[in-house]
Amino acid sequence: MRALSWYLLLLLLGFEQPVFAQNARIEAQRLSPNPPVIPLKSALGEQAFAEAMASGKYAFATSFKCRLCHRDFFVGRKQDVHDHAFAKVLQAGHSETEQCLGCHTTGYGVPGGFTSPIFTPQLANVQCEGCHGPGSEHIRRNAEGGFLAGSDRPGILKKMCLVCHDARWNRAFDDFEAAYNSYKAARPGDKP
Ligand code: HEC
Ligand code: HEC
Ligand code: HEC
Ligand code: HEC
Repeated sequence: MRALSWYLLLLLLGFEQPVFAQNARIEAQRLSPNPPVIPLKSALGEQAFAEAMASGKYAFATSFKCRLCHRDFFVGRKQDVHDHAFAKVLQAGHSETEQCLGCHTTGYGVPGGFTSPIFTPQLANVQCEGCHGPGSEHIRRNAEGGFLAGSDRPGILKKMCLVCHDARWNRAFDDFEAAYNSYKAARPGDKP
């Protein structure tokens, strides 16, 4: 009991983050022996990923570029948790922890993607390109697609979701198909 009241006192004093209140799965992730997760690489597979990157066609544009032609999506997505996902690692004191960045940023581990909050703040959070992959080729081709994980490649896009929403980080949805389909609307969570 005494330990508990000390803990509560420290909590009140604001000492809880990041030292005292680490939740178990954050600790487990931090100590994971596996290399940091790179969603695009896992979704495409090593070889297709390497080929796409070597082609030189794929660079990140940031969601502000997408806004030029998809204003409704841009505005709707501002209310989606993906667009605020970096705050969670920041609050947990892990904004520079490699094990966390792949799933809470855009393109960590991908050439030209997020590297750190100081050098690439414009790629924090899971933006449009965090799900669809780098957008430069699409911005050249517009209605012809050009995404590594676009509407014409739902198999890859579903893998993107499930690489981030893995066995440890599985609390976001019960019905995956319904959650996936809701992202066809500008405001996710709306009925497709
Ligand atoms: C494999 C992808 C992945 C990695 C790696 C990852 N996260 Fe997350 N994180 C998620 C997903 C998906 C959610 C939302 C679903 C959920 O909470 O299960 C989430 C939610 C969270 C939340 C909010 C829910 C909670 O438990 O409080 C925090 C905080 C968080 N992550 C911190 C971290 C930290 C710190 C690390 C690194 C030690 C990390 N995450 C690594 C995917 C990931
Ligand atoms: C959490 C992942 C995710 C994020 C983030 C995301 N999208 Fe998507 N997007 C999807 C999914 C899933 C679909 C449906 C693909 C399909 O047709 O199977 C989709 C479809 C679309 C479509 C086609 C809609 C239609 O008419 O079918 C557009 C346009 C689009 N997204 C633009 C954006 C833009 C712009 C952003 C950023 C502001 C964004 N997306 C962010 C997952 C995402
Ligand atoms: C110069 C205009 C333009 C820009 C910039 C642009 N798009 Fe598009 N996009 C289009 C057009 C045109 C279509 C086809 C009609 C439609 O669905 O609105 C399209 C379709 C899409 C689709 C559905 C088709 C597919 O291939 O999956 C997605 C997803 C998408 N855009 C996402 C994005 C994202 C993410 C960005 C930012 C990286 C972006 N767009 C930037 C013009 C643009
Ligand atoms: C790059 C990693 C990543 C990808 C790709 C990703 N997510 Fe997420 N998702 C997260 C994180 C991180 C959170 C938690 C964000 C937070 O709480 O701040 C989250 C949260 C969610 C939530 C909770 C929404 C809410 O309002 O609480 C849903 C639903 C969800 N994701 C569905 C999807 C679907 C469907 C896809 C694929 C179309 C997808 N996600 C792709 C990382 C990802």
